[in-house]
Amino acid sequence: MLNVSSALFWLCLLIFISDFSHSTFEFTNIKCNSLDTSFATFEYCLLKSVNRTYKYGSLKVKLLKVPVDKVKLNLALYKRLNGYKPFLYNVTFDVCKFIQNRNSNRVAAFIFNLFQPYSNINHSCPCNHDVVVDKVPTSHMNEQLTKILPFPPGDYGFYSIWFGNGKPRATVNVYGTLS
Ligand SMILES: *[C@@H]1O[C@H](CO)[C@@H](O)[C@H](O)[C@H]1NC(C)=O
Ligand SMILES: *[C@@H]1O[C@H](CO)[C@@H](O)[C@H](O)[C@H]1NC(C)=O
Ligand SMILES: *[C@@H]1O[C@H](CO)[C@@H](O)[C@H](O)[C@H]1NC(C)=O
Repeated sequence: MLNVSSALFWLCLLIFISDFSHSTFEFTNIKCNSLDTSFATFEYCLLKSVNRTYKYGSLKVKLLKVPVDKVKLNLALYKRLNGYKPFLYNVTFDVCKFIQNRNSNRVAAFIFNLFQPYSNINHSCPCNHDVVVDKVPTSHMNEQLTKILPFPPGDYGFYSIWFGNGKPRATVNVYGTLS
């Protein structure tokens, strides 16, 4: 039975949710760091504003000890509240296994979809070439973040640690604001 107060409740919920889906994402910073320069180095790691509506992030990792048979990714999502605090996940997954079966891990799928369409990471391991993520536009991040999960507005940090052949080799941290 739909009475007035429950109708109001659903209306408010709907407005609340649709409000999130109108939020916009902006990159604020990207930081790449090699933990082992004999294994991997960054040729570039940057954000660029082309104009008011087109801003993107790109990076290129040179892999110096190919082939890399095992790739793991640790990822944590932080939200800023007096310093960055853990928000959703701190997960580690096997990138090689995940690429073989994209349905095996929903969190991994969500993370991957943020940049995979703009990268050359679309085959299973071993990886025997440099890794490029080319011009991921804010519009894509926006779509992924707001359409799939209704994230509340705020400042976020995605912290990732990349493991190659069992050891931590590089970190990539991406910061952004959802408003
Ligand atoms: C921003 O730059 C992109 C790529 O050069 C272009 O397609 C787009 O029309 C530009 N937008 C504005 C508002 O100038
Ligand atoms: C996530 O957890 C791992 C393992 O407990 C830890 O090493 C890493 O620092 C954590 N990441 C962040 C960003 O806190
Ligand atoms: C990788 O990308 C290429 C070019 O977009 C495509 O032809 C190929 O089918 C993709 N491979 C996989 C395993 O998705």
